Amino acid sequence: MNPTTTPEWAALAQEREAMRGFSLRKAFADDPARASSMTIEGAGWTLDYSKHLVTAGTMEKLRALARACKVEEKAAAMFSGEHINETEDRAVLHVALRALSGGAVVDKGTGKDVMPGVRAVLDKMAAFARAVRSGEWKGFSGKRVRNVVNIGIGGSDLGPCMASIALAPFSDRSIKLGFVSNVDATHFAETVRDMDPEETLFLVASKTFTTLETMDNANTAREWILQRYDGNPAAVAKHFVAISTAADEVAKFGIDTANMFGFWNWVGGRYSLPSAIGLSLMISIGPEAFLEMLSGYEAMDRHFRAAPLEKNLPATMALLGIWYNNFFGAESLAVLPYDQYLSRFPAYLQQLDMESNGKSTAKDGSRVTWQTGPIVWGEPGTNGQHAFYQLLHQGTKLVPADFIGFLRSHNPIGVHHVHLMANFFAQTEALAFGKTADEVRAEGTPEALVPHKTFEGNRPTSTLVAEKLTPATFGALVALYEHKVFVQGAIWDVFSFDQWGVQLGKVLAKKIIPELTSATPLAHDSSTNALIERFRAANR
Ligand code: F6P
Repeated sequence: MNPTTTPEWAALAQEREAMRGFSLRKAFADDPARASSMTIEGAGWTLDYSKHLVTAGTMEKLRALARACKVEEKAAAMFSGEHINETEDRAVLHVALRALSGGAVVDKGTGKDVMPGVRAVLDKMAAFARAVRSGEWKGFSGKRVRNVVNIGIGGSDLGPCMASIALAPFSDRSIKLGFVSNVDATHFAETVRDMDPEETLFLVASKTFTTLETMDNANTAREWILQRYDGNPAAVAKHFVAISTAADEVAKFGIDTANMFGFWNWVGGRYSLPSAIGLSLMISIGPEAFLEMLSGYEAMDRHFRAAPLEKNLPATMALLGIWYNNFFGAESLAVLPYDQYLSRFPAYLQQLDMESNGKSTAKDGSRVTWQTGPIVWGEPGTNGQHAFYQLLHQGTKLVPADFIGFLRSHNPIGVHHVHLMANFFAQTEALAFGKTADEVRAEGTPEALVPHKTFEGNRPTSTLVAEKLTPATFGALVALYEHKVFVQGAIWDVFSFDQWGVQLGKVLAKKIIPELTSATPLAHDSSTNALIERFRAANR
């Protein structure tokens, strides 16, 4: 359904016009209860959205759009196992991976309850993680595992890599984790540089087990292990396990399928952290903390399903995103974690959001005439302040931003946390309220400098706060963004769970591979031909 033809969309377009003179300064001055009326909570998180360019009326109009687009019904269809990923004819049941306190979850395509399989894989992961952590699982020469290297890319890398940094305070520091994703050999070489092959376990993570980058890295890793053991293939079983949906491909690679951790085609790659793809994380933080993370995910899932739109964190964040994306022409969303442990969270969100909603074809196959997914970007808090915040404060572009912080630190050393959080609070205050020319003048600033030192304000931000970064609050945070993306996709009428846009480049690369190492005539465009010729000349 084209959302722009609904009366609710038209009402929002009118609202946008009516909001032209809106001032956050005035809105706060006029309504002392603004912050409290625009603060909502769920699954350990508090969202203050009062520093947005909205009134209570705007929010009601946005919620009306969500109702018109049947967001709640569409969410119910996802949770109930319908094949909402229509272009691949799949259910979308990543929510089942953490539905551990509930009953059956049935894939409507097969009619089967997926939960026994989910529990069985979790049990197998837990047993394996315990064996590695205790030293019971040994390398081929009998040494215990000190290095665990996940080989995967996209959804088979970003989630566990980001999460293992986020949850480092809960990790077993005697096990070093590595992540190799890039097909650039440098990534492999530098990751294993100081590792002893006899103490290294590779987890080859790939849903399809055919991804070029992952297979190249896995083959190189196998060579690296075999070199140490004089080519004895029996060593592979002790140094490699697979995480995949494709048992036949795993067997072809030479990994015993007994050492394979499965998942299912109803888990999208970018939604797969709580599946077996999280094995490296589980080895690092232990099964108990991993389950605690899943309970955080589940708490946010429950909040998303149960909370009315007025109090619903994912829906509220999604609707605010739509407000700027579709009615203000904002092109991006900055995600700014004020916590070093969340340093890779923006990178993780790039795949989650942009691979899901970076689409220009509506569900009926027509080209959309409205804007869809935003460009997501960001860096940890204070580092960004000294890099790109100038543009956020005084640039010509509207960049809505999510500020994410924690009340208590894992490293309460000296003044650091107070200084960190002072910056966290100061930035959203400065962005919202700015500094008028008169205020600048009143400081005795020479007139010529006044325009340069003035801050317009009215720059919208969300503030997301939790007590502390724990496995549970972390899981809830990831689920919050997953459902935000879902709500937006439901309104934009795109299929959020496929990713056809990544195929063309992959196919062309496969065609170019043999051309780089041969002298066959080239039949590309003149630019691509010339570039390939230069590569050939340099590598002759
Ligand atoms: O390139 C896109 C993609 O298909 C992602 O959706 C996926 O997460 C990634 O590649 C890796 O795929 P796989 O897990 O099958 O190796």
